Amino acid sequence: MKKTVWITGASSGIGKELALQYAAMGFNIVISARRKDELEKVAKLCNDMNAECMVLPFDLENLENISEIVSKAISFKNGVDILINNGGISQRGYAIETPITIVRKIMEVNFFAQVALTNAVVPYMINRGGGQIAVISSLAGKFGFALRSTYSASKHALLGYFESLGLENRKHNVFVSLICPGRVFTNISYNAIESSGNPHNKLDEGQKNGLPVNICAQKIIKAISQRKREAYIGKMDVLMVYFKRYLPFLFYRIALKLNPEKE
Ligand SMILES: NC(=O)c1ccc[n+]([C@@H]2O[C@H](COP(=O)([O-])OP(=O)(O)OC[C@H]3O[C@@H](n4cnc5c(N)ncnc54)[C@H](OP(=O)(O)O)[C@@H]3O)[C@@H](O)[C@H]2O)c1
Repeated sequence: MKKTVWITGASSGIGKELALQYAAMGFNIVISARRKDELEKVAKLCNDMNAECMVLPFDLENLENISEIVSKAISFKNGVDILINNGGISQRGYAIETPITIVRKIMEVNFFAQVALTNAVVPYMINRGGGQIAVISSLAGKFGFALRSTYSASKHALLGYFESLGLENRKHNVFVSLICPGRVFTNISYNAIESSGNPHNKLDEGQKNGLPVNICAQKIIKAISQRKREAYIGKMDVLMVYFKRYLPFLFYRIALKLNPEKE
């Protein structure tokens, strides 16, 4: 029987690429984000590959009708086998210049929404004998990064929360994969929020030199299919995880030398 994957943040970037690759693999797809028109374009591409695709738009900042949204996704094809919590926003602003309202907004989209959505889906998975949850954190979930204090905090929070959720639900055959990409070439820097609340609207140098999005999606799909508990996906930037863990002096030397305005 065909499996169903539900991907948030599927109107662009990593989420869109995940949807297309899962469609090519014969999955049924549920795609979510705010921009319905962009989701419909992704759905059309999935349909062209003979995949059935449900467009389920919603705003991660407004989850009042979360149970209705989850019921729709569950009833599309008799349940969701894999939920990929991918939707999110980045940040470009110094910590001391960022008002608490912006801090809360980023935490709402990147952390609280993933928690609310997952907690509404997991009971359905338990009832049908199991499932898989993936959460797209970041290498910035493993170490701090200038101009991304709240982004990094939200991605650290995801790792702690979802690792705990995985430990609690392994006995129900619910497997959790923590995915930590490094820089990937997407629109994320355009949509990153500045201290003023405005979008950054720029393609940063670091982003442009990031991993191609199709390779990132391939590696995410492989990690999920192998039920990897934690996966680091990137170029040389992945080394920083190991420097921080085993050679912290080197990690801090490199991190302090980076020009945050360009990264
Ligand atoms: N690119 C990187 O270098 C990188 C590295 C590490 C981790 N990540 C993570 O990967 C995920 C995807 O990022 P990306 O690089 O693919 O960026 P992207 O192209 O900007 O995609 C972000 C997605 O999230 C959705 N989204 C944003 N705010 C939302 C909201 N309030 N409600 C619902 N959906 C919302 C966007 O859709 P709408 O605008 O249509 O709502 C879009 O589909 C993010 O969680 C990001 O933190 C990215």
